[in-house]
Amino acid sequence: MSAQPTIVVDGLSIPLLGFGTWELSPPDARRMVAEALRIGYRHIDTAWIYKNEAAVGDGIRDAIEAGHVTRDDIWLTTKIWVAHFGHDALLAQARESATSLGFTPDLLLLHWPKAEPTFAETLGALNEAKDQGLTRSIGLSNFPSAEFKQAQGLSKAKLVTNQVEYHPYLANGPLLATARELGSSITAWSPLAQGKIADDPVINAIGKALGKSAGQVTLRWLIQQDVIAIPRTTKVSRAEESFDIFDFTLSDEEMARIHALARPDGRLGDWLDPAFKWDEAA
Ligand SMILES: NC(=O)c1ccc[n+]([C@@H]2O[C@H](COP(=O)([O-])OP(=O)(O)OC[C@H]3O[C@@H](n4cnc5c(N)ncnc54)[C@H](OP(=O)(O)O)[C@@H]3O)[C@@H](O)[C@H]2O)c1
Repeated sequence: MSAQPTIVVDGLSIPLLGFGTWELSPPDARRMVAEALRIGYRHIDTAWIYKNEAAVGDGIRDAIEAGHVTRDDIWLTTKIWVAHFGHDALLAQARESATSLGFTPDLLLLHWPKAEPTFAETLGALNEAKDQGLTRSIGLSNFPSAEFKQAQGLSKAKLVTNQVEYHPYLANGPLLATARELGSSITAWSPLAQGKIADDPVINAIGKALGKSAGQVTLRWLIQQDVIAIPRTTKVSRAEESFDIFDFTLSDEEMARIHALARPDGRLGDWLDPAFKWDEAA
């Protein structure tokens, strides 16, 4: 297996390439998590709302029993759903997620920003979850820069990542700068723009010259920015393809050509709470 790049945040080493499990049914999640770990992935992303935490845990146990990994080899992330942002509900879900997974996660995220209850209450409870040993570290998902900074100001522990939509069609430059400023990281969700990059003429042309697919070029573009990428697939061949990105680099010119694909309507996901939106300049 090729050596895998990581980003070190607050002393923790997070593999830059992970495997996403949104919309994977429990049987697919179990099968694909086990396959991903066999292939060499060492970072798995799930969430309470994906309704597959128990299956993800089973897939990890399958890979451990097959001798492909040990628990300590893996970075495991899950997320607190927005209905559980009150103090007691957050701690109850943190316990439930750890029980469903059968493992203490390495990272527990707040899934989306929400104005009520207050950030102070929710961040306080998230820190308590860490202090109680229900997760190794904590972080955010879908927080714009202002709220990212506010949340870090209210959090005793470092918020080690902000998992946000980021792919060639959506520029999120200000948020990347905010993560750097805070000593945190960005994790890109929908890194393949939900498969749309496969038909992109610019990305395919870059890939053709390098002997790589559009998906491989896109994932390389992300990890070359020190952004964590968590592609998802139901297909073993695609999981293998997406893992084969550590033996080439993109030139500054190739990186710039992909950055230039961003467009104002590039967003794929909708805000759960209209009170929040990406940084104006993004
Ligand atoms: N925090 C959040 O709010 C949030 C939101 C969305 C997603 N996420 C996380 O991010 C992960 C990834 O995002 P995502 O699942 O939305 O999208 P994605 O990884 O960008 O794309 C997945 C889709 O693209 C297809 N695909 C995979 N590899 C491909 C390739 N090489 N060429 C063409 N198509 C390909 C897959 O189909 P096949 O199955 O047919 O291969 C699937 O339909 C999720 O699974 C989840 O863990 C988090």
